[in-house]
Amino acid sequence: MFNNTLKKDFKMLNETMEGYPLGYFDNAATTLKPQSVIQAISDYYEKYSVNIHRGDYDISFKVTDMVEKARDNMATFINAQSADEIIYTSGATEALNLVAMGYGLANLQEGDVILTTEAEHASNILPWFEVAKKTGAIIKYLPMDEEGKITDYTSLLTQDVKVVTMAHVSNVLGHINPVEDIIKKAHEVGAIVILDGAQSTPHLKIDVQALDVDFFAFSGHKMLGPTGIGVLYGKEKLLQELMPLKSGGGANARFNIFGEVVLKGSPAKFEAGTPHIAGILGFDAAITYLNEVGMDKIHAYELELRNYAYEALKKMDHITIYNPSAQSGIISFNVKGIFSQDVCAYLSKFGFALRAGNHCAKVLHEVIKTNDTCRLSLYLYNTKEEIDRFIEVIKDITLEKTIALYI
Ligand code: ALA
Repeated sequence: MFNNTLKKDFKMLNETMEGYPLGYFDNAATTLKPQSVIQAISDYYEKYSVNIHRGDYDISFKVTDMVEKARDNMATFINAQSADEIIYTSGATEALNLVAMGYGLANLQEGDVILTTEAEHASNILPWFEVAKKTGAIIKYLPMDEEGKITDYTSLLTQDVKVVTMAHVSNVLGHINPVEDIIKKAHEVGAIVILDGAQSTPHLKIDVQALDVDFFAFSGHKMLGPTGIGVLYGKEKLLQELMPLKSGGGANARFNIFGEVVLKGSPAKFEAGTPHIAGILGFDAAITYLNEVGMDKIHAYELELRNYAYEALKKMDHITIYNPSAQSGIISFNVKGIFSQDVCAYLSKFGFALRAGNHCAKVLHEVIKTNDTCRLSLYLYNTKEEIDRFIEVIKDITLEKTIALYI
């Protein structure tokens, strides 16, 4: 996949860190941005930096059209039935909060069950703690093996389950959860399913209609787009009933001095205030880029790279890998006897960017029996050469060498 065009498109790939070529392996946190995305953002600010849906003049009409075309493209990208099912948010976190507060608070009652997993990112669990506290609903967790893979869902999908909410792909372990079957079985007991797609949408072809998922959330910056922009997809019927998180201009059709408010339909009712126009246009350029490369090719290439790195790492006695069977580009590991943050700080001295810690999944340690890991997460611009260089460095890491960094 990697070639000179890609290197030209991502200027940061030509940069160095600590005097070494940048080996960017923190793609699950955020991705690098291609020139076309940067250009789309700067074009908006330089050439047509006006508001949308509000201006009665030519430039405003044009930018409004561009934003609505971007929404159409996004609907096609995830195969939504209509662009009205695409709500722009500040990211997956806001999207997941919107569903929890808008759907959970309005629909759940004491004793209702919210089914989730211990591998969730904070953004898909903290809002539901809040909902449970306010409604009396109960949170239950699907059982997992020591690698963080779901071992059973059928027996927990009982009539009292009203909401199933989980990551499509875990941000720490990279497992692709068996969501097709979970969604089917959840619907059989009358539950709705919300997927956190922050770690799947950048890497896999998403088809929300084939999945039959009720709500689906993802972020732009994890898929070559800008920060501060994301999407909540929802089935049209559910969006009609969903309460917005915020109110203000653009979201209402009318209101009067008695406090009576008539909201617009979706997506306007969820997007009060001036939207992140540059973000939407940058995100659109990102999905154009991904479409041109091809989502299937991206996934296959990442798997090839992942297996290449995994085969080398698993031969090293000083390395523990927590997700040997993951089918995506994430490897979570530790170097025996060295704190994960010290390992990543050491690696950074050789130009490698990796995240250490619990990766915001703060109850996962109960499952994988470690509080923190080093996380190597790959994307389409990574190469086998980068992995070779990484392996050369990690193979010789010792506690003494990491301590020497500080003295
Ligand atoms: N959710 C991001 C991560 O996993 C920030 O690193």
